[in-house]
Amino acid sequence: MGSPLVKGFGQGDPALARWAEEVFAPEDAVLREIRERSARAGLPPIAVGPMDGLHLEVLARAAGARRAVEIGTLGGYSGVCLARGMGPEGVLHTFELDPARAALARASFERAGVAGQVRVHVGPALERLREVEGEGPFDLVFVDADKQGYPAYLAWAEEHLRVGGIVLGDNAFAFGHVHERAPAGEDAAAVAPLRAFAERLARGGRFRATMLPTAEGLAMGVKVA
Ligand SMILES: C[S@@+](CC[C@H](N)C(=O)[O-])C[C@H]1O[C@@H](n2cnc3c(N)ncnc32)[C@H](O)[C@@H]1O
Repeated sequence: MGSPLVKGFGQGDPALARWAEEVFAPEDAVLREIRERSARAGLPPIAVGPMDGLHLEVLARAAGARRAVEIGTLGGYSGVCLARGMGPEGVLHTFELDPARAALARASFERAGVAGQVRVHVGPALERLREVEGEGPFDLVFVDADKQGYPAYLAWAEEHLRVGGIVLGDNAFAFGHVHERAPAGEDAAAVAPLRAFAERLARGGRFRATMLPTAEGLAMGVKVA
């Protein structure tokens, strides 16, 4: 199944989703251009959806985030949303394995006028995260990369978020299979690490957490210990 091409919003009713997008206008011309340019460059359509991007911006604003980490940059769509949410005082460190994607993201950050706030780190996130640890503790960590890595990314967030900081994890529903004990199909390998992420977030004692019921599921925890 994987990520849906069109990421709906609320109750699965396309008309309701259209209404929400009309009223809340989550995607301006800059974000639309980033999405379209990413598609023309051959990137898979796995960026967050427009309403998810708006959630990220609003959550970053609500948290008063000034120092954030994003794991999984792709073409920079969600990074622009986070940078906008933090404002000109904010700094976003974003990690991307693929150099071509990182280059496209840098162009997106330029185009959105946030390049001065964003540092793109290229390579396996778990190795490269060490480079920024001295700049912590962080206010916000957004996890949206390889699913096998989610438990380790959460462990990193536990250590490097400030108390009161927030961790966000996209694809928290594991493409609709997070609750299944014996998942089958192309997403099966992603289910166990995504479930481990959610269970540790919910029960590990370091976060007060919930799952926002977006199309993909957005896990969210506030660090309490
Ligand atoms: C779902 S996409 C990120 C989408 C992006 N957050 C957005 O919404 O615009 C996941 C990205 O993580 C990258 N990735 C995969 N494994 C990684 C790793 N070990 N370290 C860093 N990035 C990784 C992939 O190349 C891909 O571009």
